[in-house]
Amino acid sequence: MNIRAKHCLAFSLTLAFLWTTSLPAYAQTRSTPGTTKAPSVDEYRRYALTHEGDVSRGATLFADEQKLACVKCHSINGQASKAGPDLLAAGDKFGRRDLIEAVLLPSATISPGYGTLIVETKAGMEYQGVLKQTTDLSVQLMGADAKLVSVATADIKQQRGSSVSLMPEGVHAGLSLQEFTDLTEYLATLRQPETALISNRGMPPVIPQLAKPVTARPFFTQELRVPNSKVQTGLTGLHQVPGFSNVFLVLHQKGMIWMMTKTTKAEESIVFSDLTEEVFSDRGPNGLLGMAFHPKFLENRKYYLKYQVFEEGKVTTLVVEKQFGADFKRDSGQPPRRLIKILSVAEDHGGGCLQFGPDGFLYFGMGDTGPHNDPNGHSQNLQLLLGKMMRIDVDRREGDNAYAIPKDNPFRGWLNARPEIWAYGFREPWRFSFDRLTGDLWLADIGQDRVEEVNVVHRGENYGWNVYEAFEPFSNQYRKEGRNFIPPLFAYKRKYGNSITGGYVCRGEKTSTFYGVYLFGDYTSKRIFGLTQEKGTLKTVREIGSIPQGLVSFGMDEAGNVYAVGFEGMIYQLDFTESRFDEIKPD
Ligand code: HEC
Repeated sequence: MNIRAKHCLAFSLTLAFLWTTSLPAYAQTRSTPGTTKAPSVDEYRRYALTHEGDVSRGATLFADEQKLACVKCHSINGQASKAGPDLLAAGDKFGRRDLIEAVLLPSATISPGYGTLIVETKAGMEYQGVLKQTTDLSVQLMGADAKLVSVATADIKQQRGSSVSLMPEGVHAGLSLQEFTDLTEYLATLRQPETALISNRGMPPVIPQLAKPVTARPFFTQELRVPNSKVQTGLTGLHQVPGFSNVFLVLHQKGMIWMMTKTTKAEESIVFSDLTEEVFSDRGPNGLLGMAFHPKFLENRKYYLKYQVFEEGKVTTLVVEKQFGADFKRDSGQPPRRLIKILSVAEDHGGGCLQFGPDGFLYFGMGDTGPHNDPNGHSQNLQLLLGKMMRIDVDRREGDNAYAIPKDNPFRGWLNARPEIWAYGFREPWRFSFDRLTGDLWLADIGQDRVEEVNVVHRGENYGWNVYEAFEPFSNQYRKEGRNFIPPLFAYKRKYGNSITGGYVCRGEKTSTFYGVYLFGDYTSKRIFGLTQEKGTLKTVREIGSIPQGLVSFGMDEAGNVYAVGFEGMIYQLDFTESRFDEIKPD
């Protein structure tokens, strides 16, 4: 554990880091024979991109505790027991270029959930590490030495995230250009084994591509950005305003909502609502993430938002009710009515979506809120709203709540369960939707290190996390006698992506081969998939196309047109007319 007394703050983070741990001194550069100058980061990058490495020499370097210490922080068996991410599927997850960047510049992009937390105590000590466990009584961090340190909550003065990775800079400096390339070559071979995972027909080893992929065309000509903001990326959703076929609300993570009006000839955008002062999006997958319209929107102009705020030192998820102005052109300007408030434990996995079901009730998802592995078992604990799907009645009130519990909610009247829960055992239910024809609830749950999953969610059922990750057993710590675990309908491995984004069942053109296909995608691989099911089992799955940006959300208008939202600012409309779902590309 990297413990520093306060006076050490004068040192740079890296220096202080080396000062207090037993890691090798990476900063010692090693010059190439015959030259005096050490190669630059760019030379390492270029050399590794243009030369082949030796896998077994790379493996030896990786395993060498003295020289590089990679194994101090990274497991490669899927256990995720150390401070850094498990690298079991590093070669599936990253291309060669990204692997090189991950090692050369660790702080440039920090893996979600593996940021460095700095905890300062009232006695003036400072601890740094990756958050492993947090309870009401203590916070546990794992530092660079792979030792777990527990700090009592009562002793904590403050805690904050750091923009510096726990993984040290300058790892490459102790290696020759060829050695660095060998290490890269080895990391690229770390792939999820095929055999161990073909456990179920719901996880086919290969997903065929369509002969002619679906086309994604920019729907608005320009990228949408938050004015005067340094962080410009961050779209999170597109929603057609009910009853206004060419008017859309576009959501930005920071708390902006734009109203876009689109005709064949022109497009117009105005600021519909600005919640940037209230919304918290500084760290983690937090911010303005979801919107839904009341089923009687044209009568009552009500709509609902889900976002995070920072209150009393904690990240908190809110579901609020708001109202359009009488002209339907702008938000009414009235303050939001808070329906529910849910505290986040580790600022992670807050779910992203809310939707009205065909029954008129509001459904919303919450993730386990972290940290990795769900060490407190939130998702299996029915007394918490974490790792759950909820269902509430926003038109009535009951007791002290700003909403009521529908009579047939599965845990209503139970002693040790929250009555809002509709289903449970989710890790990060980012996007879900209802099939407009059948009313089925389709949900995509983001996995940890191995797989992403699609579930058709039923009343009261348990979808497994963290006892299972998709089809695979994960941990028995919170397994309870008598609980039934529902496997997903479908799951995919790292070679297809790292973060699933749920979409919609196509119910547009009835004669289209895509009619009835459930569309979904992956945020990191940017691929779009489609699947069909029969009696709850997977029938067909296809890769149907891709978009150029991080696929953060889908949208579907009343006519059934489908849109894909790019996190970096573009919205695309999917054009299915040239493609057929039943024609695949020959191998
Ligand atoms: C002191 C602990 C530590 C050491 C030593 C360390 N890493 Fe890391 N590594 C981390 C942490 C923490 C992250 C996640 C934060 C980030 O993305 O920088 C990470 C991220 C990575 C990633 C990206 C993984 C992902 O899933 O996002 C790769 C690849 C990686 N490390 C490779 C290596 C290699 C190769 C070495 C040895 C040369 C090494 N690391 C040494 C802590 C460490």
